[in-house]
Amino acid sequence: MSTLTSLETLLSKRHSCRAFLNTPVARCDIEQIVRVAGLVPSWCNAQPWQIVVTDHEETARFSDALKEHLQSAKPAPDLLFPSGYTGLHKERRRTCGFQLYDAVGIEKGDRAASGTQMMENFNFFGAPHVAIISSSVELGGYGAMDCGGFITAFTLAAQALGIASIPQAAIAPYAPFIRDYFDLAEDRMILCAISFGYADKDHPANAFRTTRAPLGEILDWKEGQ
Ligand SMILES: Cc1cc2nc3c(=O)[nH]c(=O)nc-3n(C[C@H](O)[C@H](O)[C@H](O)COP(=O)(O)O)c2cc1C
Repeated sequence: MSTLTSLETLLSKRHSCRAFLNTPVARCDIEQIVRVAGLVPSWCNAQPWQIVVTDHEETARFSDALKEHLQSAKPAPDLLFPSGYTGLHKERRRTCGFQLYDAVGIEKGDRAASGTQMMENFNFFGAPHVAIISSSVELGGYGAMDCGGFITAFTLAAQALGIASIPQAAIAPYAPFIRDYFDLAEDRMILCAISFGYADKDHPANAFRTTRAPLGEILDWKEGQ
């Protein structure tokens, strides 16, 4: 198998897992994932990512504290949320949302059920571990860009070990609380979480796969005469 085929296979096997078994991941496997993810490039090799990983007990404690907090919290993300999803972005967002709702049997317009599914973000979908990814405030959007590469590589390294994951920006609005809870410095920009563990393969939330835009939608050639 060529290296590109191996990479494509790994990329294709990964998906965002929304139901986990509660089996913990061995610490040496987590360390491997973080080490391999750290091989990604970053501007000036600044490697702005820092990562807090919870064990099984701490994941539950953090989940409870976060759920309590968000009942009264005002959203205050460190990185501005998208101002909107229009055109193709809107379409793609709707498609993957409906795929999830169809998979778990939520009818269109059932706000109570979709709200309950959304709240699963704060149960970390039953994952035994959650990683909090932060960047450095002074590196701004470029640090966040570098961390995006790290996040992708984390999910792929995990996949290579048979470990499922899901990045979650859902926690980002609660950045000040998370910084405080984990005693992170003020100059750490909270970007997202990655919940990870072993997939509950029989759960309906894991029964669908998203698609990708054809090349024609993303690639534009410019040719000289
Ligand atoms: C930075 C980032 C943040 C995300 N945040 C969430 C989230 O908060 N909740 C969620 O259910 N999925 C979240 N996702 C997962 C995306 O919805 C998912 O990657 C996308 O639909 C493509 O599906 P796939 O990962 O299964 O290929 C996030 C993904 C990324 C990369």
